[in-house]
Amino acid sequence: MRIFSGIQPTGSKHLGNYIGAITQYVAGQERGEAIYAIVDLHATTVAYESADLREKTYDTLALLLAAGLDPDRCILFRQSDVPQNSELTWLLCSVTSFGDLNRMHQFKEKAAAQRELVSAGLFFYPVLQAADVLAYRANEVPVGDDQRQHIELMRDIAERFNARFGETLVVPEHRIPEVGARIMDLQNPESKMSTTGGSEQGTVLVLDEPAKIMKKFRSAVTDSGEEIVRAPDKPGISNLIEILAAVRGVSFADIEKEFADARYGEFKSAVADGVIDYLAPVRERYSEIRADDKGLEATLARGAQKAREIAAPVLADVQRAMGVGPLR
Ligand code: TRP
Repeated sequence: MRIFSGIQPTGSKHLGNYIGAITQYVAGQERGEAIYAIVDLHATTVAYESADLREKTYDTLALLLAAGLDPDRCILFRQSDVPQNSELTWLLCSVTSFGDLNRMHQFKEKAAAQRELVSAGLFFYPVLQAADVLAYRANEVPVGDDQRQHIELMRDIAERFNARFGETLVVPEHRIPEVGARIMDLQNPESKMSTTGGSEQGTVLVLDEPAKIMKKFRSAVTDSGEEIVRAPDKPGISNLIEILAAVRGVSFADIEKEFADARYGEFKSAVADGVIDYLAPVRERYSEIRADDKGLEATLARGAQKAREIAAPVLADVQRAMGVGPLR
């Protein structure tokens, strides 16, 4: 079983990313052959600072390593280090429907948010994403529900390729994480925690200092009433229960039982403490790992080598099937 996922090289990952995605990546190392790309080429499709991108790639890599990804047990690489990925993107364009790309929600949202240029790269973003996964013949793609349309598209691309050029590509499955997928903004528990769309006070960053984490939880929005239970009319308290259950690795019922007699203020502090304890070792390891640019670059080089070894024969099969490239 081969697992593939891609992560954007943005500096600040939040608690929802950590619980929902990053811990899934770590678990993936046990479940199968896990391949993870830091997708710097995707990051070039919107306005960005070229001087920052490499640094952000290192930030993201250091965080993944601090979280427990082990380059000996998974393949961890930078997307732009694998030219086969990019080449496959172009080849897959011939089996990608223009109309489908035009219907991508994320394209429409991101296009609307651009001030200067809506790049063609942004339009082709989902084809690059398809190539990421298909280049490794991955079976499973653990990503959030927001990626549903992109996964559907990559499945269509693989199926259309196989139908037109012969069985070549593996059609991957979407795997949506159960926990952490619904970690909500602390200030606005009706919407998902997010570094782009959320409130600053309501977004807990993995690398936030303990005092800051405490402050954010202390000022979390709660609901009317005083019971600590999960309920549809208690989105704030429900979110806090889910967060504490996730970081302690216990059930929601365990949390409800433990805090049956507690007041909101006391409960909020307990959630903050739980999150602080959970993130402290990650933050410590991060500063150590992040200080060593050379070591990070060496880790990426090693990952890229392994990634190219898998992607090269797949690209060769695709070329052969399509009648391009050297006669082999
Ligand atoms: N588009 C994904 C996101 O924004 C990141 C990504 C790029 C990805 N390539 C991928 C995810 C391949 C899964 C598989 O989260």
